[in-house]
Amino acid sequence: MAEHRVLFVCLGNICRSPAAEGVFLHLIEQHGLSDNFVVDSAGTGSWHVGNRADSRMRAAAERRGIHLPSRARQIDVSDLSAFDLVITMDSDNLANVKSLAREAGPAATAEIRSMLSYAKNTNLQDVPDPYYGGESGFEQVLDLLEDACGGLLEALKPRLSR
Ligand code: 4NP
Repeated sequence: MAEHRVLFVCLGNICRSPAAEGVFLHLIEQHGLSDNFVVDSAGTGSWHVGNRADSRMRAAAERRGIHLPSRARQIDVSDLSAFDLVITMDSDNLANVKSLAREAGPAATAEIRSMLSYAKNTNLQDVPDPYYGGESGFEQVLDLLEDACGGLLEALKPRLSR
C-alpha cells in the first residue's frame, strides 16, 4: 500500500520536476520501496501541458539509467490535499505553491518543502533552471537531484511501516 504521496514541482514541468520524479522513482525501485510511494510531478505554469520531458533532460537522465515517464501537467489546488509532500525546485515555485495553499485554506494538508533542503552536498537553495542553458546545466540538475532525493528518502524511511 502506498504510504507516501510525493509531488515534485517546477515551473514548466518539462525539466527539473520530471527529472526529480524519475530520479526518486529510480531510487525507491533500487531500495525495493516502489509500493510504498505514489510519485508525480507538476508545473506552476501551463505552457507545456501534455508534453514529455525536454529531450535534453531525458537524454541526460538516460545516460544515468534513469527513465523519465512524465507528461507535463499544471499543479491544481486539489494536489495540495491529494499529496502528503509537495517539493519545489526553486524559491519562485515555493512562493507560488504556498500562495496556492493559502487560497485553499485548511484543505491544503500537504507539507511544502524545497528540494534542496534535503541535499547534503550543496549550499544552493534553488535547482537552477536548465532550459535556456547548455548541456552541463542538465548534468548539474541531475547531480543536485540525486543528492537531494537521497536525503529525501533517508528522511522518509523512518516513517515507513515495515
Ligand atoms: P522547468 O524548466 O521549470 O525545469 O520545467 C522550464 C521549462 C520551460 C520554461 C521554463 C522553465 N518555459 O518558460 O517554457
